[in-house]
Parts: sequence; structure tokens; C-alpha cells
Amino acid sequence: MSGPERITLAMTGASGAQYGLRLLDCLVREDREVHFLVSKAAQLVMATETDVQLPAKPQAMQTFLTEYTGAAAGQIRVYGKEDWMSPVASGSGAPAAMVVVPCSTGSLSAIATGACNNLIERAADVTLKERRQLILVPREAPFSTIHLENMLKLSQMGAVILPAAPGFYHQPQTIDDLVDFVVARILNLLNIPQDMLPRWGEHHYGVDD
Ligand SMILES: Cc1cc2nc3c(=O)[nH]c(=O)nc-3n(C[C@H](O)[C@H](O)[C@H](O)COP(=O)(O)O)c2cc1C
Repeated sequence: MSGPERITLAMTGASGAQYGLRLLDCLVREDREVHFLVSKAAQLVMATETDVQLPAKPQAMQTFLTEYTGAAAGQIRVYGKEDWMSPVASGSGAPAAMVVVPCSTGSLSAIATGACNNLIERAADVTLKERRQLILVPREAPFSTIHLENMLKLSQMGAVILPAAPGFYHQPQTIDDLVDFVVARILNLLNIPQDMLPRWGEHHYGVDD
């Protein structure tokens, strides 16, 4: 199996719930164990942007997401925002990689300063201190100097900033195509197989020769 077997997926309250849900679906199909965290704001955004109505409590959410994605029992684990005893809260239990998608500018700031005021922030802090793979997918427009400074700081600490900014050279026909562009780039970084977007040089995008 290429790429990490266990991944922390956190969804925060930036626009783009579809990215997080699609990544969850892809990780399940690639037989990964997903440790799933979602902020209150992300749940509001998800209800605004999609038909998915997540139950509020972690256990009910876990059952719902397992059924929603067709995951095996125990493949998706959901933790509450103050579940400090969960594996993601400590370097000895946390997965090798964490993706925050979408990543709000608020969570970006908290991660950049090591706030650790909720489990998402703590899990990201653990990922950074353990020098593991942290991928952040911010969405805001325009970016303020604060946002840009936080992104620079995080990038210098080893996190990858992958903006939710799909390209158009693959000639997207649907919104799903745009979502898949960003999700495919996340999977490429994780070294997890994906067939949504050819790697550059493997396909001639509308160019005859
Ligand atoms: C519908 C909706 C869309 C939002 N879009 C964005 C966004 O694109 N980027 C962003 O940084 N915040 C956005 N916000 C604001 C965040 O949700 C808000 O700052 C929240 O405090 C973030 O909390 P969290 O980081 O704990 O999820 C949006 C909020 C709502 C309700």
C-alpha cells in the first residue's frame, strides 16, 4: 500500500465542504483508516453547501459517515472537539498525516500559533511537533496580510499549503470535476493512488502536439 494507512481528516468552517467529503470518500475507497474531526462552523457550512446533515454527536456521526461512504466498521473514527484521550491528541497515537480541508482562516491562525484550544488544533500541533505530514487547504478571497503571514509561517514549519483553487486545464465540465482537481492534488501529496486527474506530462490537455 502506498501512502499512509492512517490519516487524520479535519474539516473546518471555510467554504468547500465538498472537498472534505470527497476526500473522505476517496480515503475509504483506498482502504485507509480515517480519524475524522469536524468543527461546529464546518457543520454549518456543510449544511449550507451540501445535502449532508451530519448528526451532532461523534458516535452518531461515525455511524452516519460509515454508512454514507460504505466504509467498513471501525474504518472511520470520529472524535469530539475536546476528546483529549483520542489517538490524534498525542504523538504516540496520531496518524502519519493530517489534512485540514477546507481550512478556515481562523483554524489556520490557531494552528500557526499552536493554540490547541480544540482537538483539531491539538491534532495539527501534534502533527507539526512530530514532523509528520500536515496539508492545509485554505479558502478565502482575498487573503489578508495576517492570512498570508500565517501561511508563510506554517510553510516554513513544514506544512503544505494547498489552496482550494482548482485549475481549468483539465477542462472541467461539472462542479465534481473542480472538486476532484483539488482532492486529486491532496491524494498525490499523500502518495495515495487516484485516477481523477492525470499527473502532468501523462496527458495532453487539449494540445494537439
Ligand atoms: C457559509 C459560510 C461560509 C464561510 N466561508 C468561509 C471561508 O471561505 N473561509 C473562511 O476562512 N471562513 C469562512 N467562514 C467563516 C468561518 O466559518 C468562521 O470564521 C469560523 O469561526 C471558523 O471556525 P473553525 O475554524 O473552528 O471551523 C464561513 C462561514 C459560513 C457560515
